[in-house]
Amino acid sequence: MKPQPLAHWGLNTSRLVFGCMGLGGDWTNGPITKEHVHQAEQVTEAALEAGISMFDHADIYRSGKAELVFGQMLKARPSLRDNMIIQSKCGIRFADGDVPGRYDFSKQYILNSVEGILKRLGIETLDILLLHRPDPLMEPNEVAEVIESLYTSGKVKRFGVSNMSAAQIRFLQQASSQPFIVNQLEISLAHLHFLDQGVHINQEAGTSVNFADGLLEHCHTEHIQVQAWSPLAKGIFSGQPIDGASEAVRQTAALVAKLAQQKETSQEAIVLGWLMRHPSRIQPVIGTTNLQRIVACRDAERQADLMTREEWYQLYVSARGVKLP
Ligand SMILES: NC(=O)c1ccc[n+]([C@@H]2O[C@H](COP(=O)([O-])OP(=O)(O)OC[C@H]3O[C@@H](n4cnc5c(N)ncnc54)[C@H](OP(=O)(O)O)[C@@H]3O)[C@@H](O)[C@H]2O)c1
Repeated sequence: MKPQPLAHWGLNTSRLVFGCMGLGGDWTNGPITKEHVHQAEQVTEAALEAGISMFDHADIYRSGKAELVFGQMLKARPSLRDNMIIQSKCGIRFADGDVPGRYDFSKQYILNSVEGILKRLGIETLDILLLHRPDPLMEPNEVAEVIESLYTSGKVKRFGVSNMSAAQIRFLQQASSQPFIVNQLEISLAHLHFLDQGVHINQEAGTSVNFADGLLEHCHTEHIQVQAWSPLAKGIFSGQPIDGASEAVRQTAALVAKLAQQKETSQEAIVLGWLMRHPSRIQPVIGTTNLQRIVACRDAERQADLMTREEWYQLYVSARGVKLP
């Protein structure tokens, strides 16, 4: 079987990543509770049991509380850390006072963010740090300098980006001696521009497609791991009530249910397996905190291996809602 792009960089990871955005209670700066830590413990156990060894955070999730509850859980059960790859992100800032929400790749901001991430998680080294969203004011040399300093101080082992085009990755990479090995993007049956961009070359229909040209090809060639955020599309194809949804969504949800029944698997495994069938070896970052749904995702890798070209196209075209050109 073809290896994951991350294997190229010496990282052996699970095909699924557990997204921790749902941990830690609400998005306020309020306190965390025992219940929040207990929830983190339960979902982490369920994820590890389902074979998921990679955990995705961001400094902003639940205003830092997602990392905080995860850190408290690790403090109580430090051995869990041995079998995990922990990834987090920085670079998005919330609004404060008159200053709106914004992005910040300045040296001091990134350094402070990483200090906060390590403190909340209660760890000394972060396995992977992603730059969360492109900052229009980013200076590649400044980013390279901070990355080098985080690497040499042993605070971060690997680096990556999120929501970036091939041009933006190249722009940062040419200044940095550390490779960017991950790009996390919104990709799912509900977010198909990553495929439509490639099939609509020279087509009128392609003018409404909004996915950076050549991004998948760039990631594939450079061994950059593509990760999919919101891969379950919040459950709209796998059991979430969808009254008022488009005909394409309803038909696709019905097709997912039919395939799941035929293959004796879960609807989640079909939705994720469809993504994982793509040659980029996409890593879905699942965000469910429901223990049954975490278990339901477990069969996704097997379903990706079993999925025929015909089934894959049936799902793609159904979710597009229009025939291919
Ligand atoms: N890089 C970025 O910019 C970015 C942006 C957003 C997210 N992310 C990452 O991606 C991860 C996943 O994102 P996500 O949570 O938006 O995506 P998701 O995995 O597509 O959706 C999970 C959400 O959908 C709900 N859901 C799933 N199936 C359902 C069903 N059948 N019925 C009802 N509800 C259902 C879950 O609720 P339950 O918990 O009740 O199952 C949960 O709220 C995050 O945790 C984060 O790590 C990254």
